Amino acid sequence: MKVPFFNYAARYKEDREKIKEIVYQVGTSDQFILKEHAAELEDNIRAYTGAKHAIATANGTAALTLILRAMGVGPGVDVLTPAFSFISTASTIALLGARPVFVDVDPLTGMMDPADLEARVTPKSKVVIPTHLFSVMADMAAINEVAKRNGLLVLEDSAVMLGARMQGKPAGMHGDAGLYSFFPAKPLGGIGDGAVIVTDDDELGRLCRMLRNHGQDGITRFLHHYTGYNHRMDETVAAYLVHKLKRFDSLLERRRQIGMRYDEAFAPLAPHVQVVKDAAYERVYYTYVLQAEYRDQLREYLAAREIETQVYYPRALPLQSAFAYLGHKPGDFPHAEAIPGKALALPLYAEMPDAHVEHVIETVLKFEEAVKLHA
Ligand SMILES: Cc1ncc(COP(=O)(O)O)c(C=O)c1O
Repeated sequence: MKVPFFNYAARYKEDREKIKEIVYQVGTSDQFILKEHAAELEDNIRAYTGAKHAIATANGTAALTLILRAMGVGPGVDVLTPAFSFISTASTIALLGARPVFVDVDPLTGMMDPADLEARVTPKSKVVIPTHLFSVMADMAAINEVAKRNGLLVLEDSAVMLGARMQGKPAGMHGDAGLYSFFPAKPLGGIGDGAVIVTDDDELGRLCRMLRNHGQDGITRFLHHYTGYNHRMDETVAAYLVHKLKRFDSLLERRRQIGMRYDEAFAPLAPHVQVVKDAAYERVYYTYVLQAEYRDQLREYLAAREIETQVYYPRALPLQSAFAYLGHKPGDFPHAEAIPGKALALPLYAEMPDAHVEHVIETVLKFEEAVKLHA
């Protein structure tokens, strides 16, 4: 039985006709970016999250850039960001001429450690980016407290967490601004890149909206109030997302079923295999990442049985060549550096059949049984 890590053919199968219709309608409309479909998507995301402002952008990385710019990040400014994350949470800071100040993470959840955050605040720190990864959320209450004590703005990187809630509040709405990415792999995957920024802050909302379209105010064309970007959303992408958002909750429910089934099956394998069983918030299972002591052997064992896996992420950010100029050395972020040697992402998507889920579970359990026999 072949179990792929993603299955895009299955994901888009039921939308075949709708996608053709959207491409034809937009392609012949003369209305390609930021028109009625983008506006409708923004309205729908506002309704879904309760955010006062929703701003459709080209992708999640663009959304991070816009928010950071709107927060006044640039040369001479420090931004605190997790040492274990996707590259965007640090590269966007650096590309604005500011300095990423890395913060170590919790060894099991991989989320920003609030105590280390407090310890690493510098006099030039202006913003902190707590990031939610996989199916896990950062401790927003603790991070907000540190931020408040130190006068930091909070950019909640909720790129993968649309639909999750913590203490009753949607992911993305815990800080000054948040965002959701709609890259096809994401829970609300589009047909191409796309993202939406959310904020309750009028000034941040106004600036993000203008900066995404060359600093124009949306009223007078070719009057540029700021040097902005072409970080706009395409109408084809927006129209498809409006359509897909209607069944999003049922897609999330299927992901949750699979995630919980994995949790239940793998929790007894501790300490060789560790999973995050966190019931303190309503989780969105974007990717399922466990930590395994014999990760490489487990990965090979699964590959030999045609089960595809991924390693998210193979190297902590401070040790990536891109950030060599910051001068970090091995050992500076012990937890963030340890996770890449243990983390393994298993297949999980709404269209995954039960037989595949059970096959993954049985195969992992068989591997662990063999490890036990050899111990
Ligand atoms: C946590 C996180 N932040 C930001 C991004 C960037 O989103 P995009 O790929 O839409 O640029 C990603 C993408 O995978 C992500 O996982």
